[in-house]
Amino acid sequence: MSKKVIKRSWAEPFKIKMVEPIKMTNRGYRDKCVKEAGHNTFLLKSEDVYIDLLTDSGTNAMSDYQWAGMMLGDEAYAGSKNFYNLWDNVKKYYGIPYFVPTHQGRAAEHMISKIMIKQGDYIPGNMYFTTTRLHQELAGATFIDVIIDEAHDPQNTHPFKGNIDPQKLEDLIKKVGAKKIPYVSMAGPVNMAGGQPFSMANLKEIYNLTKKYNVKLWFDATRATENAYFIKMREKGYANKTIAAILKEMCSYFDGLWVSAKKDLMVNIGGFLATRNKKVYEEARNMVVVYEGLHTYGGLAGRDMEAMARGIEEMVMFDNIKARIGQVEYCGKQLEKYNVPLVYPFGGHAIFLDAKKFLPHLKQDLFPAQSLVSEIYVDSGVRGMERGIVSSGRDPQTGKHRYPKLELVRLTFPRRVYTQAHIDVMVESVAQVFDERKKIKGLKMVYEPKYLRFFQARFKKL
Ligand code: F0G
Repeated sequence: MSKKVIKRSWAEPFKIKMVEPIKMTNRGYRDKCVKEAGHNTFLLKSEDVYIDLLTDSGTNAMSDYQWAGMMLGDEAYAGSKNFYNLWDNVKKYYGIPYFVPTHQGRAAEHMISKIMIKQGDYIPGNMYFTTTRLHQELAGATFIDVIIDEAHDPQNTHPFKGNIDPQKLEDLIKKVGAKKIPYVSMAGPVNMAGGQPFSMANLKEIYNLTKKYNVKLWFDATRATENAYFIKMREKGYANKTIAAILKEMCSYFDGLWVSAKKDLMVNIGGFLATRNKKVYEEARNMVVVYEGLHTYGGLAGRDMEAMARGIEEMVMFDNIKARIGQVEYCGKQLEKYNVPLVYPFGGHAIFLDAKKFLPHLKQDLFPAQSLVSEIYVDSGVRGMERGIVSSGRDPQTGKHRYPKLELVRLTFPRRVYTQAHIDVMVESVAQVFDERKKIKGLKMVYEPKYLRFFQARFKKL
């Protein structure tokens, strides 16, 4: 036998059984579309988009196993079989006993925030997520970012930029008192930091710290399998553990968690809350009937819950997660060839363009990331999302813009949807816009809604 190492390229662990045609458009048409959408990619019609990298949320392709499960939907108002299948898999894979389904992640965020938070409380977290922080603020809390400083620097290559800084957390506990902190909100990977994971070592340290002060620790486990993958690849002692084992170990340190199933679980809709605390569970179970539907469907159809139950089994398969993150990495490496400024290390769900470096001639008040994402759409029909000053919103106390250090464009990868050829086209387009970046003049905001302004704000070109 030859000892020569044979090169084997990366490829998807699936083949395509059904296709959805996409519309090709020209630049003049897209120019008109983006003006009508107020330069906000959330306001574009999906049919006018060529390659849709707005989000990985609910935009995934389900497997034949999941579609087969859709046909087994038990659409009973109460006690659907699919609810019990889903609950079994939540217990088996996340290891948490009590469970309430919701129609998506923010419904679970709403419930947990209302149950746990009192007016005047503080919620420390590893950077913010838009809907998570808003629900915490609406429930009366002030959000405090306790992520490590490295997370705010796009060039810093720390392997676990999602880590919480234990010193920042302990200083806050000492300053405001543990009684004012109903829970620490820990996400992994951290979406707004560029899809950056926390390490198991950090999680253990934060667990010990919260136990010392008797503070609860809650997990935004929306993309937890990506965090588990990074732990396997980067942290000593985990290379030989399965994604399922790492996920279970991560969850073992948390008092409870919430999930937007539209990500890891590879479905189009769904979410849930899971807790070890019977009292919190009873309250959530009661609240869900007010806002979502009965506690055995939480705003979902039986078939959706079956697809979620089966999605849990697929999300921990190593080849699936490796292919997903492999695609993100491939994209990053291609963009590097054109010297496009990116966030490092490459994240789990998306490639993030560093708009401050991409457009150094634009002040943050001129919305560089929003301008950039709009230009990329006009150039090629590729749709991304702003993750900078617009997403960050206004400080509820002062009413002024928050000026985040990270001013980014997110190009997000739906799971099992696009091919490497799509990525190549996207890369060529970003490179072209980078070449002509000096022409980009910035935007003026002409309409601003009260909550989560990035979804509906409108802009005009300067
Ligand atoms: N937590 C994280 C980390 C998220 O990324 C999201 C959604 C949510 C909670 C809320 O879940 O959308 O089901 O209500 N993120 C999407 C995104 C919208 O594009 O990043 P949801």
